[in-house]
Amino acid sequence: MTPSPDSVALVARGVGKTYGRTTALGGVSLEVGHGELVGLLGPNGAGKSTLTKIACGLVRPTSGTVEVGGRPAGTRTARGMIGYLAELFRFPRWMTADEVLVLHQRLAGSGGAASERAELLALVGLFAAASTRVEAMSKGMQQRLGIAQALVGGPRLLLLDEPTSALDPAGRGIVRELMGELRTRGTSVLLNSHLLSEVERVCDRVAILNEGRVVTEGRPADLSRPRGVEIEVDGGTRLYEGATREDVPRIVAELVASGERVYGARVLASTLEETYLEAVGGATG
Ligand SMILES: Nc1ncnc2c1ncn2[C@@H]1O[C@H](COP(=O)(O)OP(=O)(O)OP(=O)(O)O)[C@@H](O)[C@H]1O
Ligand SMILES: [Mg+2]
Repeated sequence: MTPSPDSVALVARGVGKTYGRTTALGGVSLEVGHGELVGLLGPNGAGKSTLTKIACGLVRPTSGTVEVGGRPAGTRTARGMIGYLAELFRFPRWMTADEVLVLHQRLAGSGGAASERAELLALVGLFAAASTRVEAMSKGMQQRLGIAQALVGGPRLLLLDEPTSALDPAGRGIVRELMGELRTRGTSVLLNSHLLSEVERVCDRVAILNEGRVVTEGRPADLSRPRGVEIEVDGGTRLYEGATREDVPRIVAELVASGERVYGARVLASTLEETYLEAVGGATG
């Protein structure tokens, strides 16, 4: 479904970006609807961070346009609607978690005060670490503080550049729950990631970038295509290529009618990972 214009949080139209002789983006069009969670996948160097930085106004596109909530990316109003977690970020190591958030409340002009900071730290599982200095935090804790920082001021659009790269499974669980919470608040999210299974679980829609172009786009369920049905009979398993779940009763009935004994049936679906590898030509991301 294409979102109506007034509900679109982010629109990129034919965005191109060249750095010298390097083409980082070669005409990318992408939309993030209001309250939608879109995953941006692609191998190293595909252009994911470049697109995110253009949406923030940190990088100017060479061609095309990007709008945030109907305003040109980079303008004051557009910036005011965004929360951003950069891919490689560093907070001053002497600051406590709470002080980092105070700083970002000032930068974002948020009047949320101590209650906002406490709520955000709790949201990312750092409530007990409010007075812990950045230098004493693990990488994963810093990354969760980074996510809290991006949420200061209650942005309408959250741009997260690999927010779970340093997180252990428990930390990823926290972020997954957080995505659910953001969904109920109606916050839109553009999420860059290499963790296909994570993206598959949390995103409404996925776009796969390769060499600066969107090569595949769709809902995770639609990108995981059926591959066939495997039936276990005496003497081994038989593969019925192209068959789907709906074909199973007929196939089993036919086998039984012809005197076969059926021990099991398994519907095979390609995973998002297989679709991804196909889309990017086997390149590893
Ligand atoms: N400031 C820059 N100057 C020159 N080239 C750049 C710059 N930033 C990015 N590039 C180039 O643009 C291309 C896209 O880079 P980008 O960082 O957007 O990729 P990415 O998809 O985020 O990759 P990764 O998965 O490694 O984070 C790469 O070829 C990169 O080398
Ligand atoms: Mg990147």
